[in-house]
Amino acid sequence: MKKIIFLLAFAVLSCKSNEKTVEPTGLVTSKAMVVSAREEASQIGVAILRKGGNAFDAMVATELALAVSHPQAGNIGGGGFMVFRKANGETGAIDYREKAPLAASKDMFLDKKGNVIEGKSTATALASGIPGTIAGIFEVHKKYGSLPMSEILEPVIALAEKGVIVTKFQAESLAYNRASFIKRNGTNSLFSKVYKENDTIKYRALAATLKRIAKNGRNEFYRGETAQKLVAFLSKKGGNATMEDFSTYAAKWRTPITFQYKNLKITSMSPPSSGGICLNQIMKMIEPFNLSQMGHNSVKTIQVLTESERRAYADRNYYLGDPDFVKLPIEELVSPSYLEKRMKDFSFDQASKSSDIAHGTIKGYESNQTTHYSIVDAAGNAVSATTTLNDNYGSKIYCDELGFFLNNQMDDFSAKPGVTNLYGLTGREANSIAPEKRMLSSMTPTIVEKDNSLFMVVGTPGGSTIITSVLQAILNVYEFDMSMQEAVNAPRFHHQWMPDEITFEPNSFDKKLFIDLKKKGYIINEKNKEIIGEVDAILILPNGKLEGGADKRGDNKAVGF
Ligand code: GLY
Repeated sequence: MKKIIFLLAFAVLSCKSNEKTVEPTGLVTSKAMVVSAREEASQIGVAILRKGGNAFDAMVATELALAVSHPQAGNIGGGGFMVFRKANGETGAIDYREKAPLAASKDMFLDKKGNVIEGKSTATALASGIPGTIAGIFEVHKKYGSLPMSEILEPVIALAEKGVIVTKFQAESLAYNRASFIKRNGTNSLFSKVYKENDTIKYRALAATLKRIAKNGRNEFYRGETAQKLVAFLSKKGGNATMEDFSTYAAKWRTPITFQYKNLKITSMSPPSSGGICLNQIMKMIEPFNLSQMGHNSVKTIQVLTESERRAYADRNYYLGDPDFVKLPIEELVSPSYLEKRMKDFSFDQASKSSDIAHGTIKGYESNQTTHYSIVDAAGNAVSATTTLNDNYGSKIYCDELGFFLNNQMDDFSAKPGVTNLYGLTGREANSIAPEKRMLSSMTPTIVEKDNSLFMVVGTPGGSTIITSVLQAILNVYEFDMSMQEAVNAPRFHHQWMPDEITFEPNSFDKKLFIDLKKKGYIINEKNKEIIGEVDAILILPNGKLEGGADKRGDNKAVGF
């Protein structure tokens, strides 16, 4: 009898009991799909797939097409992470995150009194890490690509030359940032001009840079004319990057974080992104609870997610950084016994206080911006990639000669222990600045398998909210029986330990819910953030077809065949 009860309990825990047939509401295609922040980029990625290119070729094309069509986050002046799953089940990840220049130092953003100098890590040439995007795509192409690079770059260069139509979202974003563009780049810069919806912006300088890259390869960006011009430009603007910084940059293959949630296998990004570890911690902390029974965005579900997020982000801020520079207690942080202990003091009666939580103790052991795209090709290879300049348009310093914005990723380091970055995240020694070190990220490109088959490709921009948005997209499909498109559209909330508040997308949640949560001691913030994330995802349907989830919060678009 005891054995039967144990087996029943195990069955409830190990898979979702009431599997329902859910009608897709997003784009459905039979073979292949790209979902990204701009239709132009999704179209170019799909054109490469139609030509017989694989998901990796489409990654290169989509990444660069976003650099042209979505300049607020798509980039060649920034970096990112990509997680893949090949049709044969092999998984892997690549880190093309920026690195700190050799001249960087721990206190480089502090004044003589040890205080953070406002704006120095976000709005100056010193805010830029050495960009990794070009190294990343060439490395991926070298290992897994099938079409010639020149063929992949051709439609991207054509798009840059032909120009891209300004959407309503983009016109608003450009108007909002124009004063900063003028301040950083003067009045004659490409982005200092006034653009309205339906105008066309032509990217001639970027097209010329991409042509040189197509001709000369990755070294054009790291050793060639482009590198030399960029180093000179940064130096003129007060930056500290040298040719040595560029010539020594390398993208790094990483072992992704993998874990089981019931009958799902999740593969996500490893450090220097905190995404995979935090997602792992949160999903393991919530696994014992019957969320589908508690209901989507119910008080109880919000409590379980919030308390798990609180604890995971507290650990993130204390323990995580670049694994090539600091020892990270990854095994301990995701161990079942540690996570069980972390949730021991959780009660449905009363909110925990972040000031009481801090990071967990591990024996022996001494941070809409950004953009994501998901790809599945006709053979079943899947690519999940998130790439960023950090803030919208990075440092907003635009190199007109070369045609791109520079990142301000140095702000993702902890400039000073306990002082918040752009996303309100704090950090400790593990994420302090050092030459050549990579700054901690929250990017969470993720691939989900169900019963050993490809199930979902998912990711999002959103700084610190990336991890919790990816979490909600997965849970919305798996626990709450939503279609991929519904899961992506559903209203989101977020908690990151500090500040000790739950951020809700405005006007999307029941006021009664807020009353109930406040009674339990939760602090509600419905004002600060207009949207949380822009998830772009693909779901493999039971009949093998693909459903796209292109977030309604931006210009996101699913394209396929
Ligand atoms: N720059 C945002 C992140 O990497 O998390």
